Amino acid sequence: DTTSGPRLKIAMQKSGRLSDDTLSLLQASGVRFNLQSAKLIAHAEGWPIDLLRVRDDDIPGLVMDGVVDLGIVGENVLEEVRLERLQTGSPADYQALRSLDFGHCRLSIATRLEEHGSAALEGRRIATTYPYLLRDWLRREGLNASPVVLTGSVEVAPRAGLADAICDLVSTGATLEANGLREQQVIFRSQAQLIGRPGDLSQGQQATLDRILRRLDGVQQARE
Ligand code: PRP
Ligand code: ZN
Ligand code: MG
Repeated sequence: DTTSGPRLKIAMQKSGRLSDDTLSLLQASGVRFNLQSAKLIAHAEGWPIDLLRVRDDDIPGLVMDGVVDLGIVGENVLEEVRLERLQTGSPADYQALRSLDFGHCRLSIATRLEEHGSAALEGRRIATTYPYLLRDWLRREGLNASPVVLTGSVEVAPRAGLADAICDLVSTGATLEANGLREQQVIFRSQAQLIGRPGDLSQGQQATLDRILRRLDGVQQARE
């Protein structure tokens, strides 16, 4: 019986680069929601599923803490939060369930100058919303540069004199171009991923998840 017992809670981005594709994929898999504008939680029509629409940055933590059962999130945010949690000693485990083949983007270092090679970054300030991914890459490259953390408007930091370079998401490249920045180095490639909380689901929840995964795999195959 999949209709009694705890419902399956899925967290997704409320508004942003993954929202539309996430809803389309769920819908194509037969999971439909009556989305009332500002509501945090929506109930699926005919499935024991609750959809929580939150900020993407909050999704990995909600899954890793077991507050929700599933999350759909970009690997960039997922890995950033995982690295942060590993360093601060918070739970950082999750189950990778499916790569979703949307939300493709890359985390790249960009500068105003036509400098080439990562050596040019030595001793520089790099503005980013992803300090853990950036530090991890700098450490692997053996570079000393200082992350300057900004939660938005990262692309204006060099012009504003706040940093010498940026480390930000690039999708079409339009943002970099509009700000006179040149992509120098890709440090992380990302797409959307379906993740699950650590530990076992209830029998009913697992049955619901299995149904979703079968549908989802069918949709993905049809799209190939
Ligand atoms: C990212 C990034 C750039 C933009 C790059 O922002 O910070 O602003 O996307 O995309 P492009 O190469 O297609 O121009 P995002 O849309 O994730 O929103 P945020 O900056 O508000 O987090
Ligand atoms: Zn965000
Ligand atoms: Mg942006």
